[in-house]
Amino acid sequence: MQLFSRAIQTGFYIATPFLPWRTPELLEGPGALKRLPALLQHRGTSRAVIVTDAGVEKNVIPASFYDQLEMKGLRFHVWNDVTTDPTAEQAARLAEHLEETKAEAVIAIGGGSVIDCAKAARALLARPDKSLPDMKGVLKIRRRGLMLAAVPTTAGTGSEATAAAVVTDPALHEKYALIDTCLIPDIAVLDATLTTGLPKRLTAATGMDALTHAVEAFISRSRTNETDRHAAEAVRLLLKHLPDVYADGHNLENKRLVLHASHLAGLAFTKAFVGNVHALAHKLGAVYGIPHGEANAMLLVPVLRQYGSEVHPRLEKLSAAAGLGTDGARFIDKLEHLREELELPAGTDKLRIADYPVIARTALREANPLYPVPVIFDERDVYEVLRTIHL
Ligand SMILES: [Fe+2]
Repeated sequence: MQLFSRAIQTGFYIATPFLPWRTPELLEGPGALKRLPALLQHRGTSRAVIVTDAGVEKNVIPASFYDQLEMKGLRFHVWNDVTTDPTAEQAARLAEHLEETKAEAVIAIGGGSVIDCAKAARALLARPDKSLPDMKGVLKIRRRGLMLAAVPTTAGTGSEATAAAVVTDPALHEKYALIDTCLIPDIAVLDATLTTGLPKRLTAATGMDALTHAVEAFISRSRTNETDRHAAEAVRLLLKHLPDVYADGHNLENKRLVLHASHLAGLAFTKAFVGNVHALAHKLGAVYGIPHGEANAMLLVPVLRQYGSEVHPRLEKLSAAAGLGTDGARFIDKLEHLREELELPAGTDKLRIADYPVIARTALREANPLYPVPVIFDERDVYEVLRTIHL
């Protein structure tokens, strides 16, 4: 398995520079959303669908945004039917709505679930010959669809920068990812004013998700100088500013820096991939409904400790880049301290020993061969990690 996994990863690593990577056109800074209608008009769009959830529609999207769209001559509909962890069925309904309204662009305003749902619907429209499960995995779409503008309202998933969409299959208790460069949004809007009303717990959890993206990308075997640069800067910004954002959700400058860090982490992991923390977090999400960021927060330190000395040189580098000295073990302690400061749980009492085998099997299947993890886990490693977070 190890040789097979490493061979697949090497194949991807060699192919990566030849894939049609794009980075989204960026509108950044407080109030940046106001500039989106003009950019859409400039790109020749006349009909758009705003994809969001009911809470974001009511509390986050300023009414003036709709006026600005109208002033630029854009006709639009609002589709607010996304829930946490979007399903294939939900994405299919959105795709139908996009078709019916003859949309030329999708404006996804929300957290990772909203942006991922829009990406999945876009994939369905680009490939009417395939279902979402058919497009599970890497490079199964190969056609760009509608123009997509992604506007994150949480600072965490980095989905506005990435080539991935995560879809949940409730019947199978499974989450799966579609990964293809055609899923990268065309436009990303980083407007910190949209994140100021976020509940504290969500700020903490999504921030830890971003931190996990950056750490896993930095210790990945598919890292490049570019992904290292993005990941290290994301870690530096998050360690410095996430506690402040947690303590005071109204400081716009801190919010801006954390949103920027989340975007950098997204740029890093979309090329360097994530690792065993995410593979396990997806299973805890699918089986017990544990929110993604919280699952990452509880798993990050136990997984890094389970990797052992293999990751120490990389963690020492990362620690130095974040301005925290060159002690890898102290860096891990610092991550643990951050989780405590953000008042996120160290584990869960939802775990059942009877579930360990299925969690281990499915997590290892997700991680291998795709994720270029620094150490390939076996079942005993996973059990060890699960025991650590089992409260
Ligand atoms: Fe994540």
